[in-house]
Amino acid sequence: MTASDAVSHLSPVWSRSWTLNVARGEGAYLYDLDGRRYLDFTCGIGVTSTGHAHPQVVKAIQEQAALLLHGQANLVIHQPMLRLAEQLLGIVPSPLDSFFFTNSGAEVIEGAVKLARHATRRQNIIVFQGSFHGRTNATMAMTTSKTIYRAGYQPLAGGVFVAPYPYAYHYGWDADSTSRFCLNELKHLLKSQTAPEETAAILIEPVLGEGGYVVPPPDFLPALRELCDAHGIMLIADEVQSGIGRTGKWFAVEHTGIVPDILVMAKGIASGLPLAGLAARRALMEKWIPGSHGGTFGGNAVACAAAVATIEAIRQEKMVENAAAQGRVLIDGLRELQTARPAIGDVRGIGLMVAAEFTAPDGRPWTELTKATARRAYERDLLLLSCGTYDQAIRFIPPLMVSGAQIADALGIFAQALDQALGDVRATK
Ligand SMILES: Cc1ncc(COP(=O)(O)O)c(C=O)c1O
Repeated sequence: MTASDAVSHLSPVWSRSWTLNVARGEGAYLYDLDGRRYLDFTCGIGVTSTGHAHPQVVKAIQEQAALLLHGQANLVIHQPMLRLAEQLLGIVPSPLDSFFFTNSGAEVIEGAVKLARHATRRQNIIVFQGSFHGRTNATMAMTTSKTIYRAGYQPLAGGVFVAPYPYAYHYGWDADSTSRFCLNELKHLLKSQTAPEETAAILIEPVLGEGGYVVPPPDFLPALRELCDAHGIMLIADEVQSGIGRTGKWFAVEHTGIVPDILVMAKGIASGLPLAGLAARRALMEKWIPGSHGGTFGGNAVACAAAVATIEAIRQEKMVENAAAQGRVLIDGLRELQTARPAIGDVRGIGLMVAAEFTAPDGRPWTELTKATARRAYERDLLLLSCGTYDQAIRFIPPLMVSGAQIADALGIFAQALDQALGDVRATK
């Protein structure tokens, strides 16, 4: 059977922008079966934070694999999990000091919501417009970034209420007006649809991910913290995509000065091995009835060893600082490109979570241009992903160790790809 014959046996539910058969990855690059090199600014959707196959992470995985592959968390306590808890204590905001591990972003969000429900003895959850929290039954109900994630699966789990995310460019307002409007709508929701005493948690991405890489105005999360404190509602920060150094701090909430009740992390934590975790205060974690949640594979020994090595490598190579510095270079570069290209309506982001949003001359989100740009970039060996409800933005998620030269390469290719894509889009009119 040839490779392409085998591909036909994979489920088409995995939608693809391109068909790239990869052989290996190294640092910021992926290599296909013929040895062609691609600059990977997708990071497998924000996962390969230390770059592909970081030697320290690979070594830790190999060593742990030879010692113990699986130690089920109810049955044994394995050493990589303890080392990981120790490492995380040093990087999560204080006073979060207790951890639960599972395998994926959606699973850990489900866990966070279950914890909030036990801790408050309330049921309802408030999420935000444009959010992405996963594809399981419960997380699908909390995901509002695109209809495709719900299409054909409705009606979904109840008890989920949606407030507007402070996405200033979408509304066309300044940061203050946007923040004020969104907070008013949230308060209105607590009066009109889910009373505070029925509301277990407010679940938010501190930087909106799939919904468009939107950084909320600086007063927004502190206002949410205040509202939650006033009503005994748990504040859950979904840092599945924004956590572990991505935004130029270990966690995006650090930019806001607030500490959530539950902090959720996944993607970048183990450089590619499936692992997710949540952090909360011990006193809160003790309200989670023992035995009421868990899982066979959660906190896998090899994945935990990879996470420990990931955090060590990020620290040793100062990748958080690099993410902050290279992110600024990337944003400046994009803003420069924007001056001669009115199709780029907005450039935004923080650290290495950066987006350029395309707006058509008539003011609508320019989906076709995003798709054409990503396709043209791919032809030039640069991998870029889209984001936003309309796929109206290109997002840039390079590894945290990306160099200035790689950022410059990506900017150059992006500019050429966009110019060519503008021609493509005009030609199809
Ligand atoms: C913010 C956020 N939360 C949750 C998830 C779900 O994670 P997973 O795909 O690992 O289930 C994602 C995935 O993109 C995400 O970006």
